[in-house]
Amino acid sequence: MDKEQFDGADDLVGRSSEKREYSIGEILRERGVSRRDFLKFCSAMTAALALPAAFSPKLAQALDEVKRVPVVWLEFQDCAGNTEALLRAANPTVAELVLDILSVDYHETIMAAAGHQAEAALEKTFNDYRGKYICVVEGSIPMKDGGVYGCVGGRSYLDRARQICGSAAATIAVGTCAAYGGIPAAVPNPTGAVGVMEAVPGVTVINLPGCPVNADNLTATIVHYLVFGKIPDLDSHGRPLFAYGKRIHDNCERRPHFDAGQYVEKWGDEGHRKGYCLYKMGCKGPATFHNCPSQRYNEKTSWPVGAGHGCAGCSEPNFWDTMSPMYKRLPNVPGFGIEHTADQIGVGLAVGTAAAFAVHGALKALSKDKEPGEETKEG
Ligand code: SF4
Ligand code: F3S
Repeated sequence: MDKEQFDGADDLVGRSSEKREYSIGEILRERGVSRRDFLKFCSAMTAALALPAAFSPKLAQALDEVKRVPVVWLEFQDCAGNTEALLRAANPTVAELVLDILSVDYHETIMAAAGHQAEAALEKTFNDYRGKYICVVEGSIPMKDGGVYGCVGGRSYLDRARQICGSAAATIAVGTCAAYGGIPAAVPNPTGAVGVMEAVPGVTVINLPGCPVNADNLTATIVHYLVFGKIPDLDSHGRPLFAYGKRIHDNCERRPHFDAGQYVEKWGDEGHRKGYCLYKMGCKGPATFHNCPSQRYNEKTSWPVGAGHGCAGCSEPNFWDTMSPMYKRLPNVPGFGIEHTADQIGVGLAVGTAAAFAVHGALKALSKDKEPGEETKEG
C-alpha cells in the first residue's frame, strides 16, 4: 500500500478521524438530529436492553457524552442478510443514528472503496485503533484444508479473522453463521465452517445469532458497550441475556392458544386464520431463545410467528440440523411455565420435560383436542 492510499483511507468511508474527538451528542446535533428523535432512540435502546424505562434519561446523558467507536465489518461465508437487515431499517432517523454511533470504517458491501483502497481503510483502522475498535463479523469461517474455501485480499478468511478479531476490543458475531457456523456448517459441512468463537478461541466474542440478526439488538449491544464500558452479560452460548434470555414460547402472542389446546392443523385452515398456535406445524419457539416476539422486525411490525409461520429456531446453535425437519413438531417441549433461560433448561430438549408435560397433559385431557403430550408418544 502506498502512502497516498493510506492517507486517503478516512475519506473513503466519508469520515475524518478527527470526528471521533467529538461526543456522539455533539455529532448528532451537528447533523441536525433533533433532541426529540435522540430521546426516542434512547427510549428504544433502553427497552431493547431490557432496562427499566426510568433508565432512559441516564442512557441519553451517557450517550450524549461518549465518543464514537470505530467498527470494522468483515464478511465471510454469508448471504449478506445481516447487512441487509442493518441497511433496510425502515425508520430513517434510527438508521442515521445507528450509522452515526457505529462509525463503520470498513464494510466490504457498503463502502465506496474497493480493492487496495478498501484494504488500506482496514489497515488504517487496525493500526490506529488496535485494541479499541469493534469488529463485527458476518458469515462463517471455513477451517477445512487450511481455510482455502474463502479468501479476500489474497488472505484466507481464517487468517483475517485471527488478525482483526485478535486485536479488537470485542468482536460481535452477527447472524447464526458467524455465531455458530449456521447453514454452511450444516451436515455434511463441506468447508469445515465454524463460528468466530471456535475459529479464534480466546478472543472476546458476543454472539448475536438469528437469520438475520435483529439490527436493534446489534445497536443495543454497541450502546451497552459505549455506556457501561463492558460487554453485556451472556448466556452459555455467548448471547446477551437482554436479547436471548427469554424463550420465544413464553412471550408468544399465540401462547394462550397453546395453553387452550388450539392448534393450526393445516396451512390455511380455520385455526390458521384465527391465529392459533403453530406448534403442530413445526414451530420451534418452545426450544428457542430470542426476543423476536417483543423486538420484532421491519420497524417492529412483524416477526415469523406473527406472520403465520412457525419459528425455525434460527438463533440456536446448529439449528439447521437439530431443528429439522422444519415442518414437523418438536418431540418434546422443554420446561413449562415462564422465566426459563437457555442455561436453566440446558441444551437437551427432552430432559425434564416429561413431568412438565404430564401436568399440561392432565389439564388438557379434560379438553376434546389431542395435545402435544400425546403427539410426543406418537413421535
Ligand atoms: Fe407460539 Fe410456537 Fe409456542 Fe405456539 S409453539 S405458542 S406458535 S412459540
Ligand atoms: Fe428466528 Fe424464530 Fe425469531 S425463526 S427470527 S428465532 S421467530
